[in-house]
Amino acid sequence: MSELRLGVNIDHVATLRQARYATMPESKNAEPEVIAAAAICERAGAKGIVAHLRSDRRHMQDRDIERLRQNVMTKLNLEMGNTPEIVDVALRIVPDEVCLVPEKREEITTEGGLDVVALRAELEPTIKRLQTAGIRVSLFVDPTLEQIDAAGELGVEMVELHTGKLANAFAEKIEQQELQNLQAAAQCASELKLQVNAGHGINYENISLIHKIPHLTELNIGHSIVSRAMFVGIEDAVREMLLAMENYRG
Ligand code: PXP
Repeated sequence: MSELRLGVNIDHVATLRQARYATMPESKNAEPEVIAAAAICERAGAKGIVAHLRSDRRHMQDRDIERLRQNVMTKLNLEMGNTPEIVDVALRIVPDEVCLVPEKREEITTEGGLDVVALRAELEPTIKRLQTAGIRVSLFVDPTLEQIDAAGELGVEMVELHTGKLANAFAEKIEQQELQNLQAAAQCASELKLQVNAGHGINYENISLIHKIPHLTELNIGHSIVSRAMFVGIEDAVREMLLAMENYRG
């Protein structure tokens, strides 16, 4: 049995703060406090804190990432698009890990995996710069063998398999194909000696399916935990997810 680690994405703690305080960033009344949320997640057993710095700064702000860098005790995983401006921020702040994701301004959340096959030439220099700065790099990819092979060729440490389609298929009770795709992709990534993570759309129900995907090291979960936190508090929301992740057989 291998331990499955949880990284908690706390973007939506910042979303809630921005809903009221986006135009008053210096207000002493601004809440909820992102740093406090991160500390509670860690106390509850999370092994990492995940934050996405988007170009439009709709939730996390640069200051949040700086403060997370100073305060996170486990590890900080910065999700980001491959744009010069955001890459500069990453190289200044030096998170433990970067997960490169595609990013369109108009999307509500990251909609698909990074097309590593098509974007190879643009990704290569960024990956090298991040790695040279001591940052471990992950690529967020759809579960296809072409994408995993391309990630392996680029020399990254990790891939994060996009589980969003599985989450949607689970809700419609048509998950078999998506599950098979994820199983095959995880197998392929493991053979290439990549660390295999997964994330997007994972919640307290569909986590049962995640147990059927082999070779996973880490899950990155945000929306469902922050939503559950509204009712039980963030500490219990994290603990409940950790309980649901127990006994993963790898
Ligand atoms: N992993 C990646 C790469 C993401 O882009 C996101 C969403 O920001 C997540 C994990 C977390 O997804 P969710 O909020 O649906 O749990």
